[in-house]
Amino acid sequence: MKIFIKTYGCQMNLRDSEATAGELNKLGHEIVYDENEADVFIFNTCSVREKAELKAVGKIGILKKLKKKKPNLIIGIMGCMAQNKGEELLKELPHVNFVVGTGQLHKVPELITNIIEERDKKRKQNIAKGLDESFGVGFDEASEEILQNAKNGERRMPRADIQEVLLENDEDVLESLNSHFDDTNSAISAFVAVTRGCNRFCSYCIVPYVRGREISRTIEDVVNEVTELTVNGIKEVMLLGQNVAAFGLKGDTKAPAPENSPFADLLTELCKIDKLKRIRFVSPYPSYFNEKLINVLAKEEKICHNIHLPFQSGSDRVLKAMNRQYTAEQYKNIIDKIKTAVPDVTFSTDIIVGFPGETDEDFAKTREVFNYVGFDNAYIFKYSPREGTKAAELTDLMVSEEVKEERNQILLNDLTKITEQNNADLCGSVVEILVEGASKRNSERWSGRTSTNKVVIFPPTDGVDVGDIVNVKIDKSSSMSLFGKVVF
Ligand code: SAH
Ligand code: SF4
Ligand code: F3S
Repeated sequence: MKIFIKTYGCQMNLRDSEATAGELNKLGHEIVYDENEADVFIFNTCSVREKAELKAVGKIGILKKLKKKKPNLIIGIMGCMAQNKGEELLKELPHVNFVVGTGQLHKVPELITNIIEERDKKRKQNIAKGLDESFGVGFDEASEEILQNAKNGERRMPRADIQEVLLENDEDVLESLNSHFDDTNSAISAFVAVTRGCNRFCSYCIVPYVRGREISRTIEDVVNEVTELTVNGIKEVMLLGQNVAAFGLKGDTKAPAPENSPFADLLTELCKIDKLKRIRFVSPYPSYFNEKLINVLAKEEKICHNIHLPFQSGSDRVLKAMNRQYTAEQYKNIIDKIKTAVPDVTFSTDIIVGFPGETDEDFAKTREVFNYVGFDNAYIFKYSPREGTKAAELTDLMVSEEVKEERNQILLNDLTKITEQNNADLCGSVVEILVEGASKRNSERWSGRTSTNKVVIFPPTDGVDVGDIVNVKIDKSSSMSLFGKVVF
């Protein structure tokens, strides 16, 4: 089968899609990137904001027409929205064949095989009954009248199809999703999931409901996976988890003691893998940056000097209502400690504007922290109420869309100014990059990335290849990138 996978949402979802692609490929299926070729469509969905759900539902809805033309298409929904909406999706999108929640992702390949076999069986039964082979593949029994009408070429019964819904939780998912699928053949960087789920229940967030309880893999397991990836040419890994720095803490949400950081132990072990050059991770929660973790960040050169540290809001009142277990002052303290330990570190963050009850004063505090840290990148989100979460009940306090948009724009403008300045400061300096190769649109522009996660553009250079670590002298900058030439 030719399978097209469309992914929405975060890196964890991209990773799940890639693992699913790997498993499907092992079974002999082909992963395709052109929708017109597809026999199977899989949508790996996200529920974090309403927009993410609407986008996926819209796209899947459009396929209804195509399925009329190609009744043998298999259409499936997996991931967070599948978990969130479950069977309800089949009512809204009756042409869908399967809905697989986040605890059952490893069953997708088996499910596709079953659907193909089941359809085949029905087809044979239909032919035996003298019917059109694709007639009502999902119905075991049709009334005599309908059968007779169908034989006469009338179609009063819809062409029902096989539908499956799998939503229960299964911890096997953690160990069963280790396949990798390299669709570029020149990949130097790979995602590695180290935890799944989240126990933090920030009051706005649906993730703990759709991804289930937090579970961690073992250090040994992760080290084995990364070692194997490096044998296949991977130089950089991005460790993934919704609450990644809580790795190994068995779901405990209390801030760990200064010397307790299984995540730091994991990083230390990974740094020993010879062929691995760089380690990144997302998303850590601020409370886990204790002494032990910060010391490891400072000591281990392979750990990249860019930390994504979501802060959501700079107002203590709002942070409390969000159930974020830190104050703005504590957040800034963590930033300061990391900056002291790793002087050239850069930060990125996630921020929500327009959380219920957020006043101009609250927002001013967010802006203050935002400019204090000088983020190199920020994902700014307009609050979107998610049914079932605590914050969605605060209906009297909702902030208008106009105000959300205004606050969003203010932060985006601040961000452009900060990054323009941060990047301009690097003009004239020499930076070390990991070479990623030619840009897709222009082969005369090669790019690489610094440990601080800045994109560096340079002309192709003799002797410089994908995966090399080289020095580049920077002569120009913008808010997005640095430009320069390789120096030896
Ligand atoms: N586990 C990650 C975040 C995952 S969700 C962490 O805690 O760092 C990614 C981001 O989406 C969050 O950091 C938050 O900024 C945003 N987000 C989550 N729920 C949201 C909602 N209901 N409305 C708007 N943004 C939201
Ligand atoms: Fe959501 Fe908070 Fe968990 Fe992040 S830590 S996934 S924001 S509940
Ligand atoms: Fe979305 Fe699920 Fe990720 S809700 S952000 S895809 S964990």
